[in-house]
Amino acid sequence: MSAMTEQEIVELSKKHTLFSWSATGKVNPLPVTDARGVWLHGPNGQKWLDFNSQLMSVNIGHSHPKVVAKMKAACDKLLFVYPGAATEVRARFSQKLATLFPGDLNTFFFTLGGAEANENAVRAARLFTGRQKILSRYRSYHGATGNAIQLTGDPRRWPNEPGGPGFVKVMDPTPWDYSFGANDEQIVENNLRYLDEVIRFEGPNTIAAMFIESVTGTNGILIPPKGYLKKLKALLDSYGILLVCDEVMAGWGRTGKLFGFEHGDIVPDMVTTAKGLTSSYVPLGLVAVSDRIAAHFQNNVFWGGLTYNAHPFCLEVAEAVVDTLLEEKMVEHAAKLEPVMRAHHERLKAKHRSVRTYRNIGLFGLIELQKNAKGERLVPYNGAHPVMGKIGDFFRNNGLFTMIQGGTIFSNPPLCITEAELATGFEIVDRALSLADEVFEG
Ligand SMILES: Cc1ncc(COP(=O)(O)O)c(C=O)c1O
Repeated sequence: MSAMTEQEIVELSKKHTLFSWSATGKVNPLPVTDARGVWLHGPNGQKWLDFNSQLMSVNIGHSHPKVVAKMKAACDKLLFVYPGAATEVRARFSQKLATLFPGDLNTFFFTLGGAEANENAVRAARLFTGRQKILSRYRSYHGATGNAIQLTGDPRRWPNEPGGPGFVKVMDPTPWDYSFGANDEQIVENNLRYLDEVIRFEGPNTIAAMFIESVTGTNGILIPPKGYLKKLKALLDSYGILLVCDEVMAGWGRTGKLFGFEHGDIVPDMVTTAKGLTSSYVPLGLVAVSDRIAAHFQNNVFWGGLTYNAHPFCLEVAEAVVDTLLEEKMVEHAAKLEPVMRAHHERLKAKHRSVRTYRNIGLFGLIELQKNAKGERLVPYNGAHPVMGKIGDFFRNNGLFTMIQGGTIFSNPPLCITEAELATGFEIVDRALSLADEVFEG
């Protein structure tokens, strides 16, 4: 039992803290006192299955006992030293990361999270190339800090504008209203021809880098069409533009491979990541840079820093988490459960007329709802529908935690989930979909 009542926990949190992306007075936060494995626990004995790994980030599951033991041991070691110092864990873990990242991604700059990783990747790209502009895509989220929110394509950017100049948005390979039935090859060709024009109109030698989410996350689990990543990399290379893959959400096994870009058989110039790096137990992110970028910063100043850069305790935790992820073969497990999740999605589509489509790669998935038989989305871009609130309440009252975004329901459980637990989650989703069926217009 917790020392406070549920009401005290909620009321004091709302009174003395601000909640992100919300008007604090209107939030109804989930009161959580403990979390183990794939389960969240509330102060009154409530239990919710975590079907979203919180923010697609608790990849190894909550409070993994092996990691908790190593964290306790790490408390007796060096807790902090300024980032100008060299430490054993910094040496050991970065060497290990160099073996885990493919190709020549052998050098790392540590941050406190994903947005800061992207900030520092923007900085590194500009310093390395001597160019200013940055390309990114509309259906993307790259973080909430100054430059990261300008990289972001989705509506969270709008109230944060104007930002600094030089951030150019381009279309995604699969646009929102894409409906003329082209195959992957045509989609890629079409998109890259358009991108090529944008690059020429913007001035190729003014563009430092393009940022992409290797597999787009909150903007709708968008899996790159076949051949896209390889051809995109080749196009950018031809102009000397760096490719930065944002693996903050897609990384660390979520897609059934350690990194999402590995599905496209490329090695980016830089990778940013966070979240699953520590399973969110402590804040940590990083930028991985290729050898030629690292070589540049051997002789040229990297004009960036953070008090908590290469924080020794956070690095100890990351090392324990990554070791556990690999030792317990959770990446392979996510790949193995990919068809199991797809079968659940298929079954729900067959059963519920409100299901428009579904997709997943590894344990990164969602179901999209429709309002009529023409396949019109239940919720337009950046819109809302009252039934989605009812579905959210249903989940909360029936033991499921997951993310609902517009007219989509996410399924992104921790990578340690069992098939039985996955079935439990989809059984609750199944019942909730009856609410969406009731508003289906036919
Ligand atoms: C793809 C992506 N990039 C960056 C971020 C920002 O990470 P953070 O919230 O740790 O700053 C997120 C967070 O959701 C993300 O999903």
